[in-house]
Amino acid sequence: MVEITVDGKIFKVKKDALLIEELLAHKINIPHFCYHQSLGKDGNCRMCMVEIEGKKRPQIACDTPVKEGMVVRTKGENIDKVKRSILELELINHPVDCPICDQAGECKLQDYYMEVGLYDSRLDTPKTHGKKHLDLGSNVMLDQERCVLCTRCVRFTKNITKTSELVVIGRADHSVIGTFGDRKLDNPYAMNVVDLCPVGALTSKDFRFHQRVWFLKTQEAICDGCAKGCAIYVDHHREKYKDDTIYRYRPRFNPDVNGYFMCDFGRLGYKKENNSICQSAYIRGKTSEYEYAEGKFARLLKRHTGKIVFMVSQMLSLEELFRLKKLAKNCGAKISGYGEVLWDESFGDDFLKSSDKALNRKAFDILSIDVSQEFLSVSLLDAELVVFIRRQDVHTSEALGYKGASVFLDAYCYNSIFEGIDLILPIASHTSRDGSFVNVDGYVQYSSCVIKKNFYAKPLLTLIAQILKDSIFTCRDVWEDGLSQESMLCDIDFDTLSKTSQKIKL
Ligand code: SF4
Ligand code: SF4
Ligand code: FES
Repeated sequence: MVEITVDGKIFKVKKDALLIEELLAHKINIPHFCYHQSLGKDGNCRMCMVEIEGKKRPQIACDTPVKEGMVVRTKGENIDKVKRSILELELINHPVDCPICDQAGECKLQDYYMEVGLYDSRLDTPKTHGKKHLDLGSNVMLDQERCVLCTRCVRFTKNITKTSELVVIGRADHSVIGTFGDRKLDNPYAMNVVDLCPVGALTSKDFRFHQRVWFLKTQEAICDGCAKGCAIYVDHHREKYKDDTIYRYRPRFNPDVNGYFMCDFGRLGYKKENNSICQSAYIRGKTSEYEYAEGKFARLLKRHTGKIVFMVSQMLSLEELFRLKKLAKNCGAKISGYGEVLWDESFGDDFLKSSDKALNRKAFDILSIDVSQEFLSVSLLDAELVVFIRRQDVHTSEALGYKGASVFLDAYCYNSIFEGIDLILPIASHTSRDGSFVNVDGYVQYSSCVIKKNFYAKPLLTLIAQILKDSIFTCRDVWEDGLSQESMLCDIDFDTLSKTSQKIKL
């Protein structure tokens, strides 16, 4: 470590690190377009200028290694003047159409202009024009006029996805971003360029013009699209007289899991949270009051005590599975994880996407949930009631000859598998309840996203607490009630887990 002084304050920083990395790490505001933590330096935008004592001219912080005793100024009359001049150059050909730009509210050019620009335009020559709303493919739209040519998008497709679809075409003030000929942007991570673009040049076809970003509220969650479990932000908003609606998922930085990115499939996974939610309870095909159906479920468990099978899913959280084991013990039920196929060989790759689509497969090992066909076959022999919990594969028990009563607890209604089910009781969906999940690499993450929809389906934890008549309602309660003593989880602390991922003992 070495000591440097920034704007009169002393900081201990990593020797030989780039100055911009350390400024950002210490939350010192340093305008920048072309540098990004995941892509490194490029030095083309000159926005990150700082004054360094002993140097004649201002230097770019993204290409300056820190040195012991370095004295840096990020603000002041001289350096602000430099930044203003650079902004003036950036804006010479920019359309400044913020009111109709989808990036407004989260645009770096807009932010920096408000911070240090604030000059009147001195331009009396016509601006050069580029192409507007170009459909690049993969849900990405390009407005060439708004581009500041930082090349983040180009470097992303070159260095991260290694597909090189995006390039800089032309020279000087005719330089534009584009693809060659008819080529489309078509890699499975393409929409990350929308997050990387610091201005409104690249926008998401799926999100643009649907909601102004300053209306959105953000919660932290993890993607349930595959066993990687990328850390995400969930942006949602409730308009007057309407239901709370999710507008987008965005990647949330987690160095252990997904870094700065996520795949496009996972990014669009928010749609099922808006469109495929079960909106009513059903008893033998007829809609029922939620409370009545809930009472009926409790009565069925009582009536069939000792002759029940719970078929559980690898999409359930650690807390839910732990509590289901308690409930199973209480009503003499057998608990089986057999038969659920959550695997798609064509989906996985060697970056983030995993062929394993089970969000919490390792939870079955951790909690010793039996996945053998023999155990389920034997359990079904004298069963009078099978409860499918987040399992849509009703045929699995039918294939083993089971013909008795069945109950279905899930948040989603995808198809007509519900025919013949005696009771359907909706439970809270992935983004409406919190929970912890172990990813394919053994990292446990806590998803804290709880979006309250108009139709209130109870979280499974609440339902179980009411049936067991105890007071274990929250994830924290479950960890304190014994989940933290499971041998593979004994190093995990719930307080730390709610802030950062932790690795389990394998
Ligand atoms: S489109 Fe966006 S990310 Fe790409 S070079 Fe232009 S400003 Fe940078
Ligand atoms: S890689 Fe998997 S977990 Fe990550 S965003 Fe894609 S589907 Fe979701
Ligand atoms: S961020 Fe340093 S030159 Fe662009």
